[in-house]
Amino acid sequence: MTPPLTRRTKEVSSRMRKQLIRCTINGRAAETVVDIRASLTDMLRGEYRLTSVKKGCEVGECGACNVIINGECFNSCIYLAIWADGKEITTTEGLLSADGELSAIQQAFIDEGAVQCGFCTPGFLMSAAEIIRSGKAYNDEELRKMLSGHLCRCTGYENIFRAVRKLALTR
Ligand code: FES
Ligand code: FES
Repeated sequence: MTPPLTRRTKEVSSRMRKQLIRCTINGRAAETVVDIRASLTDMLRGEYRLTSVKKGCEVGECGACNVIINGECFNSCIYLAIWADGKEITTTEGLLSADGELSAIQQAFIDEGAVQCGFCTPGFLMSAAEIIRSGKAYNDEELRKMLSGHLCRCTGYENIFRAVRKLALTR
């Protein structure tokens, strides 16, 4: 039989569930205490009100929660908040210029009619930003593959593809 938790073990176990992390979010230093089991999605939405980070499947399948971490796109729903310690995170809010102007990729999405219900859009934008910022040239097949981790329930795929292709280096 498992022995009952004493007050001391309860205190230790509750202390162990939290951890201080420091990171950079959209260019600003951030410091917070997180539950060690919390996802980065929950931290960004709950602590920092960055609601562009959408909760879709929450199992790493749809890409709605994608954010850029140290230059690489990740599903934040399956990325623990504690792993973000010391990292640089960008969400769609961070794509805007300092004076609130849309970035070129956001404008391209609008121009190509790539935003329909918009639920998947922030995640697609982050993958697009990763592609553009990489400075690498991709052919159409590679671009489609890089966007394949996203589900758009209203099937705006071709418009989204056109928007990304407009700004990506192609070969
Ligand atoms: S909500 Fe994260 S991949 Fe779907
Ligand atoms: S625009 Fe992507 S789900 Fe509707």
